[in-house]
Amino acid sequence: MIKFYVKTYGCQMNVRDSGLVKALLMQHGYTAVDTEEQADLIIINTCSVRGKAEDKALGKLRLMTITKKNNPARMVGAIGCMVQRLGESIFDNVPLLDFAVGPNRITAIPGIIDAIKAGQGPICDVGLDKGSEEELSAHAESGISAFVNILFGCNRRCTYCIVPSVRGAEWSRPAKSIVDEIKVLAENGIKEVTLLGQSVMAYGKRNDVFPEDYKSPHGYMEPLSRLLEEVNDIKSIKRIRFTSGHPSGCTAELAQAMGELAKICAHMHLPVQSGSDAILKRMRRGYTVAEYKAAVLRLRDVMPSIAITSDVIVGFPGETDQDFEMTQALMNEIDFNNTFIFKYSTRPGTPAAEWEDDITDEEKMRRNQILLKNQDDRANAISNALVGQTVTILVEGVSARNEDRWMGRTEANTITVFENDGTVQVGDLIKIHVNRATIFTLYGKIVK
Ligand code: SAH
Ligand code: SF4
Ligand code: F3S
Repeated sequence: MIKFYVKTYGCQMNVRDSGLVKALLMQHGYTAVDTEEQADLIIINTCSVRGKAEDKALGKLRLMTITKKNNPARMVGAIGCMVQRLGESIFDNVPLLDFAVGPNRITAIPGIIDAIKAGQGPICDVGLDKGSEEELSAHAESGISAFVNILFGCNRRCTYCIVPSVRGAEWSRPAKSIVDEIKVLAENGIKEVTLLGQSVMAYGKRNDVFPEDYKSPHGYMEPLSRLLEEVNDIKSIKRIRFTSGHPSGCTAELAQAMGELAKICAHMHLPVQSGSDAILKRMRRGYTVAEYKAAVLRLRDVMPSIAITSDVIVGFPGETDQDFEMTQALMNEIDFNNTFIFKYSTRPGTPAAEWEDDITDEEKMRRNQILLKNQDDRANAISNALVGQTVTILVEGVSARNEDRWMGRTEANTITVFENDGTVQVGDLIKIHVNRATIFTLYGKIVK
């Protein structure tokens, strides 16, 4: 019996890909183990989005391949975006690697391992054929939440970003496959799904996902709203999220659908990247600051308390103090619930790589620290404003920090800790009266 371990770097798509490879390997009779020490097969799922992400993955791969010296039967594979970027040359970086498989070829992994066992290694596969809808629908989740791919690839081509070149062109899965996949998840106890796409509102824009004569019960015209409506109808699913958003997709119809469909969480991850029109233009983001604000307004019009989270890049080539201050001001104005702040990292082959990376590391760090501090202050205020209020949470189970307590998440995805009086079960939607708050955690009592 082969024991395997998968280590994941990168975004939610990689988390989903790792879940898929786990499910496929288990279908092939392999056993998942909790630590790499126990494993005969170690798979590292890599990310390419910043230089640091690649350094981490390469370091880990080298460490893992070194352990083969004491354990020659052990197999080590790299999968994911960095493999797609480096291709065969990854074997120059990590000579003892057994296989390297790109993010489009996850479904091929069991076959590739069989071929290596038959003496055909090392193998590199960075092809584009994703496999069948049936293979792509496999899951191995044990909790109450699952990620579901709805859109692969990205056509936006922001100038700093490696994703389009490693994840390829946009392709939307048929709505029926997605709904069928979620129905199976629901039968297996999943209560919350997060629909994934790099630019998720582009769902169904490049290829048809609904039959031509499809009639939306609410009369929606946009494929994403229609899909949300279908998923909303799946009985035991209690919550639906989707990510990542783009302002151009925050249409009045989508806002309306989010308001009308009871299970859609009032939360949107809407990366802004910068608060300067000059920088946004050079980033080729496809919106201005005014358009971004208008998108947020459309959402808040329907859902006044919607949580908006974001991504920001500091130190993009040519970012002046003034540009930076505009970003700071916009973040304050929008009042983001949470923001991931990244220091610009040149990615080989992207359009921005042609420009000098002229902001020093110290300056990027300084800007990063300022935005982090501001964000913490905002998040603290938002958290504290909830004290005395009632929130609805989806219960996940016993708190990792304290076994006497239970935890769940609000619609905004904020961890909420409470004492279970024995009436509450995993997967319940319950109301909590908040009596204390820290920056990322709420504490409260069950409301009867
Ligand atoms: N598809 C998502 C983002 C995927 S990458 C979207 O566009 O909304 C996640 C985040 O990494 C991006 O939002 C961006 O803030 C950051 N990022 C991407 N490329 C980067 C780079 N070259 N340097 C620094 N941060 C980067
Ligand atoms: Fe990258 Fe832009 Fe696509 Fe996001 S939308 S994955 S930042 S190219
Ligand atoms: Fe995600 Fe990193 Fe690939 S952010 S799409 S795993 S480059």
